[in-house]
Amino acid sequence: TEVYTSGLAGRLPTVPVDPGRLERAARRKMGRRAFAYVVGGAGSESTIRENRAAFERWRIVPRVLRGVVGRDASVELFGRRLSYPLLLAPVGVLEVAHREADVAVARAAARLGVPFIFSSQASKTMEECAAAMGSAPRWFQLYWSESDELVESFVARAESCGCEVIVVTLDTIMLGWRPRDLDLGSLPFLRGMGIAQYTSDPVFRRSLAGPAGGASERPPVTPSTLRALLGLARRHPGGLLRNLRSGEPLAAVRRFVSTYSRTSLRWEDLAFLRERTRLPVLLKGILHPEDARIALEHGADGVIVSNHGGRQVDGEIAALDALPGVVEEVGGRAPVLFDSGIRGGADVFKALALGATAVCLGRPYVYGLALAGERGVAEVVENVLAEFDLTMGLAGCRSVAEISRDLLAPAATPP
Ligand code: FNR
Repeated sequence: TEVYTSGLAGRLPTVPVDPGRLERAARRKMGRRAFAYVVGGAGSESTIRENRAAFERWRIVPRVLRGVVGRDASVELFGRRLSYPLLLAPVGVLEVAHREADVAVARAAARLGVPFIFSSQASKTMEECAAAMGSAPRWFQLYWSESDELVESFVARAESCGCEVIVVTLDTIMLGWRPRDLDLGSLPFLRGMGIAQYTSDPVFRRSLAGPAGGASERPPVTPSTLRALLGLARRHPGGLLRNLRSGEPLAAVRRFVSTYSRTSLRWEDLAFLRERTRLPVLLKGILHPEDARIALEHGADGVIVSNHGGRQVDGEIAALDALPGVVEEVGGRAPVLFDSGIRGGADVFKALALGATAVCLGRPYVYGLALAGERGVAEVVENVLAEFDLTMGLAGCRSVAEISRDLLAPAATPP
């Protein structure tokens, strides 16, 4: 109602309401490299397109005359009641979008009561973000480092920051093949961005004293990607090494590249984490139903069906197409969250109808951040929530529990 009435009062939105216009406005505002990093995906970007096409293949079939006053969009997740089935996905290197980066997002999230998942690759430390959130809900996303000690340290810090869930991202044990970044010779973290969780960590700082990257530490960026990037960086003066004049930042970046991810990670390793935290552990990047089953067998408290917004594997299944199979396999034993391709409230509705417990919003809030900082993030999220609430009501649902599979039908014509 507020979104509409502010329009009636003659107030224009700060950021475009339409997702396409939002993205285009952000492209105009952001630098070329920054926008390429956020918008881009793996290979030909067919996975990004497929994520959207999958939403178009489902149509909503509303029910009428169901008395939809006083709708309740809340869901319970890990012992906390959330007003909406929506969280802010972990997004790294937010400094490419705005100076205040993660802290602006944290403030917006706290104001709306929407949980923010702090990224391992954040531009601001989890301590700074937590301090900006009061008692509002936040989670921590872990990239499982080569270093056991660093994993322990990140998890301990997340606990003392009041994070309520640990999300382990499994689809980025190596960085995907991203032509937009490669063509610009620009991976932000190679320029010293997005490594605040590391450079603020006592274990990481201690490791800087030692030699960078032992023989057993396989770089999570493949050698060929790294070579291509370094070659391009040399041909684009002022790129890669600009932020790394002094020795320590360069050492930090080197150390980060050699330690941020463990390519050798296996199911058995999850026990290590289980023994070190009492927080619920959620596995992000599950697409195969069989993996969802194995995840629960290994003590995961839930999964996030996600293909990382199409940034990792070109030609991958749309996350939405993977959702029903995982939901069926999990069979209500644990929450199944979803992300990759959510652009508006109707998309949230479709994901919930296909069995998701809640969804995460990715790129759209980053565009809001780029355009108008905290206010931009808040507006983008409010718009998604408002459209979701309207869609619920117009489809005849008073509660999230009433958003069921029979309210969807396959599109008669493919998109
Ligand atoms: C991401 N994503 C991500 N995921 C994660 O677990 N840790 C991270 O640090 C990041 N970083 C990141 C940076 C950028 C620029 C983007 C766009 C995405 C993936 C993110 O959590 C989520 O899965 C996708 O963004 C969802 O897809 P959409 O909604 O953006 O299409």
